Amino acid sequence: MRAYRAKVVEPIHLPDRDEREANLESAGYNVFNLDAEDVFIDLLTDSGTGTMSDEQWAAMMRGDEAYAGSDSFKRLQESVDDVMGFEKIVPAHQGRGAENVLYGVLISEGDYVPNNTHFDTTRAHIVNNGGKPVDCPIDVDAEDEESFKGNLDPDKVRELADNVGAENIPALVVTITNNSMAGQPVSVENIREARDVADEIDATFVIDACRFAENAYFVQQREDEFSDASVADIAREELSYADAIVMSGKKDALSNIGGFVGVRDESLFEATKQRGILYEGFTTYGGLAGRDLEAMAVGLREAVTESYIEDRVEQVAELGDLLQEAGVPIFAPTGGHAVYVDAEEFLPEIPREEFPGQVLTCELYREGGVRGVELGEFAFPGEDRPQLVRLCLPRRSYFRDHLVHIAESFEKVAERRDELTGLEVVAEPEMEELRHFSAELEPVE
Ligand code: F0G
Repeated sequence: MRAYRAKVVEPIHLPDRDEREANLESAGYNVFNLDAEDVFIDLLTDSGTGTMSDEQWAAMMRGDEAYAGSDSFKRLQESVDDVMGFEKIVPAHQGRGAENVLYGVLISEGDYVPNNTHFDTTRAHIVNNGGKPVDCPIDVDAEDEESFKGNLDPDKVRELADNVGAENIPALVVTITNNSMAGQPVSVENIREARDVADEIDATFVIDACRFAENAYFVQQREDEFSDASVADIAREELSYADAIVMSGKKDALSNIGGFVGVRDESLFEATKQRGILYEGFTTYGGLAGRDLEAMAVGLREAVTESYIEDRVEQVAELGDLLQEAGVPIFAPTGGHAVYVDAEEFLPEIPREEFPGQVLTCELYREGGVRGVELGEFAFPGEDRPQLVRLCLPRRSYFRDHLVHIAESFEKVAERRDELTGLEVVAEPEMEELRHFSAELEPVE
């Protein structure tokens, strides 16, 4: 049950079918090129796109915009300490800024960095700082009953250390929830195992805490030891094992912008502060306005309240259920922030080289004005990955009728399944890794 009501609304508009078709064509069959006003339901990301509370907006009016020593920074610091258990923080403009600050300090040329699964920006910042990212997820199939499909395989980390030498692994990262593994959660038991391995190889143990509250909710629901614990207590417990955290405030700080690094060690704090000043801004604002710090300070506390987090994660599950009832193949159980659709299973006639995920993404827009994002051959060329379409729910933004509309749009695509053709890339940027953000496509003749 939604434990909130709307107080400010933003009208949305469903362009008619002819307009949607014209929009698709002029966007080069790439939904990143659509104007947001032409999108009816926007599931591109859950990052910075959610609805803030009245308390967050009220706090923003109190923003202290002093360059140094801002009161707003002190309130953020207190909130991070209370909610996440980190006293020493370095603010950054968003998550990837925080990644650059921390990994730039920890990593040297030729180092290896294992992670359950690296998110794209994490991978990029590790490479950019001379490191080699290595994914060490547990082996799971979509059909497995496993409750924590986001877990790290500690033996894969040990094997890596045996092969490359523990001295070349400065950091071990665990990403909660595991975004690149369908937003699946990580158990506290697994986080403890990761802590042990980090000690064995003498590595700094980092948690990518972007969706720490969603992860804590799954722990409460699925890990016996924590069934009676509050989400707020679990959140502190899961982060208590880490030496450092990287955070995007655009996720579980329920804000439109912002991020930070949290550390325990004094010398690591000093080094990250200096690098923060270089790339982000002075240590009490980090590239943000004081009001943005306020929004995060309040948002973090809201993220671990039971009524908020239950509604949040259960809404994603509700979308998953509606899609399954409509016969749409999804990664189950659903994760914390998004539903992932298996496009190859949904459109079996479209070969991988013709981007079944991108075809499905375009058809969803054509049928319902819904914008998801392809995560398959178009986004990750040449990688042997499942062909997925991610439907991310912004926090506190949509209602059940919207979810029903999404499921109905899939049903309409299914009715025309046999008429659909593949797509080919006709214009792309120099860096293939970034092509899905701007490349243009056309239907295959
Ligand atoms: N780490 C994880 C696990 C993320 O999901 C993201 C962003 C970041 C770091 C970087 O944070 O965007 O504030 O710079 N994920 C967004 C997404 C973009 O759509 O999944 P950022």
